[in-house]
This record gives sequence, C-alpha cells and structure tokens, in this order.
Amino acid sequence: MANRIWNAGILLLFLLLAALLLQFIRASSAIGDLFPSGGASGTTAVRKQIALIAQERDNPFWRSIEEGAREAAETAGAALVYMGPARIDPSEQIRLLKKAIASKYDAIVLQGLGGQADYRQLIDEAAAQDIPVLVLDTDEPGSKRLAYVGTDNQAAGVLMGELIAQRTGGQGRIGVLIGSEKAANQQLRLSGLRKAIGGYPGLSVQAVRATAISRLQAQREAERMLAAGEKLDVLVGFSALDGEGMIAAAQRLGRTDALLLAFDDLAATRAGIADGRIAASVVQLPREMGAQAIELLRRHWAGEDIGGEHFTKVFMLDSLNVDSLPEAR
Ligand code: BGC
Repeated sequence: MANRIWNAGILLLFLLLAALLLQFIRASSAIGDLFPSGGASGTTAVRKQIALIAQERDNPFWRSIEEGAREAAETAGAALVYMGPARIDPSEQIRLLKKAIASKYDAIVLQGLGGQADYRQLIDEAAAQDIPVLVLDTDEPGSKRLAYVGTDNQAAGVLMGELIAQRTGGQGRIGVLIGSEKAANQQLRLSGLRKAIGGYPGLSVQAVRATAISRLQAQREAERMLAAGEKLDVLVGFSALDGEGMIAAAQRLGRTDALLLAFDDLAATRAGIADGRIAASVVQLPREMGAQAIELLRRHWAGEDIGGEHFTKVFMLDSLNVDSLPEAR
C-alpha cells in the first residue's frame, strides 16, 4: 500500500515537472521570436546573451548604465549579464573581456580603454568570431568595435571650459580632478577644456590630479590642490563622484570662495547645486547610453548598419534648472 502511494506521488511529481518544462519551452521560444538567435535557421530560437563589462561594478554611474541596458534587454527579450572589477582595474576589464569571448556571448558591451593594444586586439578577436562589440562611455578608436555610444567627451570638455570662462569672467587659476590618467574619456575632457580656455589669457590650468574614480580620493586630491600654494579659484571634477569629494574638501578647508564645477548628477552633486556649494555640472545620460547600446544591437541583428559614433546628449545643471529637471540617472 505504502509502495503504491509512493509510486503515485512520483508520477504526480513527474507530470508536474513535465508541465513546467513545456511551459518554459513555450515562453522562451516566444521571447526568442522577438530577439531571434543568429544561429542556423530551423533551430529553436534562444535568448541572446549580452555581456556588459563596467569600469567599476558598483560605481553608481555604471549601475545607471546597467539599469538602462537591463530594461532595454528585457523589452527586447535578451538576457543581460552585468560584470566589472570591484575597484577600477583595467587589467581586470581585459580579463573579463577575454572570458566573455571564451564564453561565446552573442554580444559584448564595454567601456573603451583608449589605447591599450591587448584590449584592442581582443575586441578585434571578438569581431573575427562574429561577436559584435559595442563600446560605451569611452570609445576605442582603431578597433573593430561595431559602434560607440556615449558622450562626445572632447565637446563636453569644451563645454566645461566655456562654463569656466563665463563664470569667472575669464580670470582664474584652475585645478582639475580626473578619474584616471589612463582613461581616454578623461583626457579628452581635459583637452577640450584646455582648448576652450585657450582664448582667455587670464585662465590657466595649474594642477591635474587623478582620483581613481573614488569619492574619498577625490576629496583627498581636492584638499591637496586647495592647500598647495597654487591659489586656485576654480576646481573642476571630470568624473561622477568628484562633486561630492570637492564639496567635502572645500568644507574641511573652509574654502567656500572656490568655484566648484562637477560632472554628472549623482544625488550629492544635485544637493550641492541646490544649496549653492557647487556652481554647475555637465550632466551625461548613463541610462540612455545603456539603453541605446542594446537597441543598437537589436537593430544590428535585424540587419541594419549601425556602425559609427552615436553621441548621447550632455546638459548643464545649475541652480536655475536643478529643481525642474529630473535625474539623468
Ligand atoms: C565617467 C565614467 C566614470 C564615472 C566614474 C563618469 O563621468 O564618464 O567613465 O566611470 O564618471 O564615477
């Protein structure tokens, strides 16, 4: 008797599992229709797997890119796998790219490093294996990347330079925080700034310091710059966490006279603009970058030519629009 109940139980469990499996196959093939696999025709459609490699996994700017990409991937029926170094580390980005190629993702979305030969070679290797690579935030020119999505970083630097000229009347000693000496987007922003202030003999860049895209490091370097004998009038932060770091530095040193100009619009930066500690910020659209990257991949797989540069907008945030404009994140 006990045996019979046991057998019936097993049979019931088996039927339940079979029903679940059937439902799963139906659902995934419906998704596959929206985002068909590039595999041989006639095979069962599977969800495209897209790897997104961040510069730093838990950096709020990159989490916004992830959010935009994840939402777009869900709409399109693709699966997004987000990864990145725990702390900024280009060699780990290279390792993750190598791994993503070996794992045969259907596409890879990543930040360009701008000039590392081994990274560029890996991007070309992915392209040779028919794995499209979409580059965002920082371009990787000269590689076989499919397209670039993100800010025109040189133009954003020019915008910052013009903002400085406008706010200072063309007179001032400038200190600049950059995320990393090696990051091409930071160097482009800096060269744009230098270009824009070139026409103002009263403006000069006195110091440039790297923050390793860390808020604490930004504070430390901003303090060093303000305390050194440079007599700075203006502090510029070229990456997302600098705004908060500069506020803390100016406050600790009692330098409320220094003009602080930030990048992006994390909550602390917005708060600093609202209460006047930060004069303005050049704001990028990270969510939009993530979403556009996935949308471009969808179009690529639909047979469209999507190559080239796809610049996302930047805008200026200051006390006049900080309350009316929604978060760019
Ligand atoms: C830059 C990113 C960087 C982030 C760091 C942004 O302004 O575009 O490259 O990872 O700041 O917080």
